[in-house]
Amino acid sequence: MRNTKSLSLKVLVAAAIALGASGVAPAIASDGGEIKYRKAVMKAVGGHMNALVGIVKGETANKDDMKALADGMLGLAKVSQGIFPKGSDEMGGETDAKMAVWDKADDFKKVNMAFVTYAEGVVKAAASGDPKMLGAAVGALGKNACKACHDDYKKKD
Ligand code: HEC
Repeated sequence: MRNTKSLSLKVLVAAAIALGASGVAPAIASDGGEIKYRKAVMKAVGGHMNALVGIVKGETANKDDMKALADGMLGLAKVSQGIFPKGSDEMGGETDAKMAVWDKADDFKKVNMAFVTYAEGVVKAAASGDPKMLGAAVGALGKNACKACHDDYKKKD
């Protein structure tokens, strides 16, 4: 056991050293980097959504995970408030975000905030432990946050 532990520590340290050597520092965030980050966050949002839907539909026995997944979704909704910095449009790399995100910034902010509000609804529903209540809250989140925003601010697939 001791050996495994010291080995994984070595691997971690090596990875950290490699990061330092490649010059990745928080101060030099690029537009391409911001787009990559936004997509990574949205992928996590999609993953949480799929997992929650799996519980609502009764496809998994892991119903007790609903609280952790709901908390994660709320955390991501808060994170999402900062993933659309100015300049992270198509000029900086490949993005499916429409220019309307920045051109209609006030309207966009409203639907982005709705994400937090409806994710809070999911957290409340998850606390009940009832997949039916969870289903209603997840449905409301999907309609008023995911779909509402994607319809206006994300290019069609
Ligand atoms: C406030 C707006 C907004 C909300 C709310 C929102 N999204 Fe998104 N989402 C976007 C935009 C814009 C993109 C495109 C990002 C890019 O390509 O830079 C995106 C991309 C995605 C992607 C593709 C990520 C990839 O692989 O590139 C998924 C999956 C996704 N969203 C799922 C969801 C789900 C599920 C919800 C609701 C729980 C949600 N989103 C809520 C705006 C939003």
